[in-house]
Formats: sequence, structure tokens, C-alpha cells
Amino acid sequence: MTALTMAQQASLTAGAAMWRSVAIPEAGVPSLHMSDGPMGIASGRVDERDVARLSPCATALGASFDVALIARVAALVGGEAIRMGVDLVLAPNVNMARSPLAGRAFEYFSEDPLLTGLAGAAWTRGLQSTGVGACVKHLVCNDSETDRDRMNAVVDERALREVYLLPFELCAGAGAGAMLTAYNRVNGDWCAEHGHISTIVKQEWGFDGPFISDWFGTHSTAGSLNGGLDLEMPGPARFLGAKAVAAVEAGDVVAERLTDAAERVARAARRWSGPKSAPREDADALLVEAAAAGMVLLRNENDLLPITPGRHRRIAVIGPNAAAPCYQGGTFAKIALSPDAVRPLEAIMARYAGVAEIVYEPGVDPQPRLPAMPVQPVRGEGQGMTVEYFADGDLSGQPVGQEVRNTNSLVWFVGVHEQGVFDRPAAIRASGWFTATKDGAHRFYVGATGAVTLTVDGQPLIDQPERMAASDVMGSLKRGDAESAEMRLAAGQRVLVEVVFRYDGARVHGLWYGVRGPDSAEAMLARAVEAAAHADAVILMIGETSDSSVESKDRPDTAIAPEQRTLIDAVCSANSNTAIIANIGHAFDATWSDKAAALISAWYPGEGFGPALAAVLAGDAEPGGRLPVTLARCEADYPALSLQPDGQGDLPYEDGVLIGYRGLQARGTTPLYAFGAGRGYTRFEWLNVDADGGDVLVTLRNGGDRVGSEVVQLYRHVPEFALVGFAKVVLEPGRTRTVRITPEPRLFRIWNGRDWEKPGQRAGLSVGRASDDLPFTTEVTI
Ligand code: BGC
Repeated sequence: MTALTMAQQASLTAGAAMWRSVAIPEAGVPSLHMSDGPMGIASGRVDERDVARLSPCATALGASFDVALIARVAALVGGEAIRMGVDLVLAPNVNMARSPLAGRAFEYFSEDPLLTGLAGAAWTRGLQSTGVGACVKHLVCNDSETDRDRMNAVVDERALREVYLLPFELCAGAGAGAMLTAYNRVNGDWCAEHGHISTIVKQEWGFDGPFISDWFGTHSTAGSLNGGLDLEMPGPARFLGAKAVAAVEAGDVVAERLTDAAERVARAARRWSGPKSAPREDADALLVEAAAAGMVLLRNENDLLPITPGRHRRIAVIGPNAAAPCYQGGTFAKIALSPDAVRPLEAIMARYAGVAEIVYEPGVDPQPRLPAMPVQPVRGEGQGMTVEYFADGDLSGQPVGQEVRNTNSLVWFVGVHEQGVFDRPAAIRASGWFTATKDGAHRFYVGATGAVTLTVDGQPLIDQPERMAASDVMGSLKRGDAESAEMRLAAGQRVLVEVVFRYDGARVHGLWYGVRGPDSAEAMLARAVEAAAHADAVILMIGETSDSSVESKDRPDTAIAPEQRTLIDAVCSANSNTAIIANIGHAFDATWSDKAAALISAWYPGEGFGPALAAVLAGDAEPGGRLPVTLARCEADYPALSLQPDGQGDLPYEDGVLIGYRGLQARGTTPLYAFGAGRGYTRFEWLNVDADGGDVLVTLRNGGDRVGSEVVQLYRHVPEFALVGFAKVVLEPGRTRTVRITPEPRLFRIWNGRDWEKPGQRAGLSVGRASDDLPFTTEVTI
């Protein structure tokens, strides 16, 4: 590295472009090609045409409690990265599911730091086994979205180290390639310039990878470098790069720090641009296996599930999420899912074909927020809007580019999209033919990062003047707030929808639109109740849409949509054999669950959702998950709920180390469904629980008549109740096995304010199948 001049070193500290670092070929430093994750490899163009494989969300992976499976899924993502020419993936996300309201909670593995850390470490190991690097994010306390670019997490040092940093520590121990610094502040300092955190990670843990800023999340030159930031992203440079030279020359940054930053970037670039090898595993089969492994069976009265084919003649599939499942949240990591992915409704119909009659009713509107824009292009082939790019804001002259886009949300990055978006004022026009299928009021929607108008057959319907530029541009794009207006159309009427978006010189632009046809809520509900009443069993699929979980916005409450709540009440009263499938990516209010005979929490299970659900319902596979988050009886029972920073921008982490179930247990509060709870279709007998030095030995027998799994869980009680180890055991019917579990030693050290301290030589543990079902005790050497 000494061969590099100071200017070359400085150039390495800022990106070259949206997803690439700077290369210095003469010094053997290649460019790193990065991409967003974690559910797959996101298109750098944020383009629905760049189809990629979609794995289960982190909450679903956490629910599997199966680190070997998580590593296999991450290796599959590594294979995708190789296919798409990516060296470093911005994943895993090991922030904590501290509050169920967190907008990105579906991207978090759990509310438990050990489960999060072991899952994150397994994911890191699996991805990196392919030669692709993991950039663990977001360091640290980016556990919420409200004002994420300004918010200050106020967290005590013990909680910071034992809860929020622990997952990063375990990922660092797994050899993670890099870390992405969070947008927020922690105890007053920006995460992108946090000397204290950087000292812990780089000095105490010996982490030798680069700290990379979250996209546009830098604030200064000297502050960033002195606080440990090594690479500013995206490029071109704003605060680092060439400006680093001036900072060193002015004496604001010591030359060694700049050299260290450049070395870290260069080392990562060399390491992750090296040879790669994709895994050979069958991706289709793995994605179905992983989806089922994360589904949590929380209730199953009278063994309603599985609905073995042949058991019922007429099955009603009801609910919006059967035909329009929620696969993922609305982040930049959104994967363009293959249009061929088999939806749950199709998979259920296929599985029961010939043995049961399946009827379907959505019951409520499947797209309550931004609906689709089903149009025919005015020019060009296929489905969707004709999108034309103009060099001038007044649309004068010929378009400089044109394409057909079949999506309701478009994003452009200057430098990535060179074919017609500019970093100066210009315009984009999207137009298509919409044909009404029903008589009545149609509601049109539009939103953008600039001034936007929507006209229907030349009639102006929405005219939204330029918004104030948001400080969190990435966030405002992903929030997708839209204006709307109604127009009456007759069935069969064809109208020209035209959207004109005028933008200024920003580096990121976005435009989104949709149209909702008339269908009376009462009629939809009545049809669903009718279908339920005439069926032998009901599969009711409720849940979210992809805009329920977005960047830069937290949710207001844990309740499911009121119309879905009404649907549950009505359908369960009409048919007592109802199994509810909750397609929700985080903890939710489930107080309605006693109305149904069965409840499965399916999270966002990835593209294997349909086939996996059909297999679980039919009993070909078991729902293998356990709750990675608590489902409380009421919102007030969650140790942390509100994510609204106070007037100073502070968000106090008052729950300290008592995050999630730890806090409920400390207060003696009984959850509705406890952390770790869930069951399969078989019955396990616990024959023996013993200690062997530092290990716990548990002997189990599958006493049921089908293959199944049990998750053995170990909890400490001192200084507070906490998970210290777990193992997933899969057994054939009638088989017995003894598993050996070594509790994680880091769970037996306490931060005393100055140092780590061990609370003694021996620790008493409770052992069982859920945090509220721990019939055994033992004592281990620590
Ligand atoms: C998100 C990161 C992501 C980055 C790049 C940011 O808005 O917070 O998680 O990796 O964008 O897409």
C-alpha cells in the first residue's frame, strides 16, 4: 500500500458510482461491485425486469432456528450474486426487532441478540462460502425508521454491547467482509463517524474490513475518517475521496488513518473480487424447504391441520394474500420476483386437484395502498406504461429514450440509468391505455420525487407541485406517498392515462402511480362469508402488502387492517374449521386468533411460499418454525413500542438489556404467544436433560407418527432471563437422539461499565421447547 500516493489512497475512500468502488489497476486494486440484499440480489437498476431468486425474509429464517439451513440459503444468494456479477452484498441486516412497529422488522432475524447473531453469522458464512463478501448492516441501533437520518438512539453501554453490538460481533467472528454504518446517531454521534463504536469493532474485536457508509449517509470529511469510516457510498465523492487529502494536509486527519482506510478498502476489493463458486444445490427445492421451515404453527384445535388430501370435499380459500401474497417489504433491496413464482392459491389448487373442490374469494381489497396500473402501452410491446424521457422540462422536442415498464413504481439513479435521466431539470412522461372492467368511480394515484401531473383522456385529475426536497431521499422514494383523485368510468371504456414528471438536478428520481376500480367492500365480504359457509374447511390468508414495511417509515400500530379483522370475524363465525395463515413480516396483534381453529404465522417466506404452504397444509411437510419475536396480548406489554424520537431527536432505549421477551418476563407479563413457541405435527418426548461440564445434553424421542422437529432452548436466569443456546433436532417417527448444546460463552459475560465480568463459575439454566415452556433445569460450568 505504501506504493500508493496519498491522492490514490484518498480516491479509494469514496465510491466510483452508485454500486461500485474505485479501482486502481496499476496498484492491483480492483473495483468492488456491490448490491443490496438480504432476501436476494437486488437489481442495481431497481428494475422489475431484472428477475432474481427471492429467499425468505430474515424473520422467517430466524423462525427456523436452523443455522445450517440459513447458511445454505445465504449460499444460494451468493450464487445469485455471482450470476449478477456482484462481489459484496449489503447484508445481512442484524438490527434488532426491538419494537413490532419497526418499518424494516421483516429484515431482522429476531428480538433476541443471540438468535440474531447466530443467524447473521450463519448467513455471513454461507454467503462467503461462495467467494462473495457480506457487508453486515446497519452498525448500529438502526432498529427503527422514523427520522432515521437524524435520530439519536440513546442507549446505555451495557445494552449497546450485550444486545445491539453482539450480532455484529458474531458476524465479525464469522469473518464478515465489511460493515455498513447506520444513518442514525448513537448517544450523540453519527454512526458514520462514531469513534467509540469503531474502537470496539476494529480494536477490541480486531475487525479488519472496511466501514462503508449507508447510501448518502455521510456528514463530514475529517469527522468521518477520524470516526472510523473507510468508504463513502455511493460515489462520486461528496465528503471523502479527494477531500481527504486536504483534511490530512490541514492536520485534521493523521496520514496513518487515511492509509488505514485505503488499506481496508483495497484489501476488501482484492479479497472479494477473487474467484467465486456458486453452490450446486437445487434452488427451487431449497426455497420451498426454507419457506416451510420458518412457518410457525401457533394454534391447531382438534388437529384441523394438516388437511390431508381426501379429508375434506370442499375447501374455501379466502383472503387477499392467497392470490396476492406479500413477498417482501418496500426497500431498495426489493427483489424482482419471477412472474412464474407459484402463488399460494395456485399451489393449493394444484395440491388438492381431483380430491377437493377449491373456491376462492379475496374478501377484501388486496391492494389497500398503492394499487397496480394495469394498462396497455401507447407505443411499444407488451403490458404497462410507455415511459418516455425528455431532455427538457417542458417536453419539447423528441424523447431521448423510450421503454415499456410493467410496474407501478419506478426509480432512477443518475449514473446508473444513462439512457435518459439527467442530473439537471428534465421530464419523463408515462402513458398507457386503461380499460375499465366495471361501472363506477375509479381512483387514480400518483406520487413522485418532483412535480407531477396525471391526466385521463386529457382531463387533468392530479397536479402535484414540487415537494420540498427530502433530506432522506432514499426514504421518501420508498415511502411512496401518493395523491389521488376519482373519475367515473363505464365498463369497457378505454381511456388514455398520462403522467408527466418534471424533476430537478437530484441524483435519484422516483415516480409511482396506480388505479383502483370500484368493488363494494360489502359485496366482497358477503361473497367470502358465503364461500366459507358452504365449505368443509377454510384456509384464510390475511396479511400485508409490500408497502406495509418500508424504509424510512415505522408502522402506527400492531393491528392488522380493520377490514381484514372484520373478514376474520365473519369467516370464523361462518365456519369453525378455519385455519388462518398470517402473511406478516413481524410481530403483530393476534388477539383474534382464538376465533379460528388454527393459526400459522408464515412471515414473508420467499418465492417458495406457494408450494411450501400447500405442502404444510396437506401434511407433506411440517411447519418447522418457532417464534423469533413475542406476540404480546396488547401493545402496552411490549417493552419497547413507540419509535418516535422526542423534540431533540432522541429515541431513548429505556428497555436497556430487557429487550423483547426478556422485558415481559422481568415484569411477569404473560405473552399471547411466547418467544420460541410453535409446534409441528408430531409429538416429542423429552427423556433426559443433563449437564456435561459446560454443555447440556438433551435426549428426545419422536413419539408421533410422522417426521418432525423440536427446537431445544436453553435460558439463563441471572442477571436476567435470556436465551443462551438452542438446537433444532429433526427426527423420524419412533427415533431417539441425544443432542449436545454448548451455550454461547458471550452470554455469560456482563459489561460492568468498564469491562467484561463473569458472574461466577457455574450457571443454572432452564431447558425446554419455548421461553414459557421450560420444565427442566440444569447447571453448567461457565
Ligand atoms: C438502506 C440500506 C441499503 C442501501 C442501498 C439504504 O437506504 O438503508 O439497507 O443497503 O440503501 O440500497
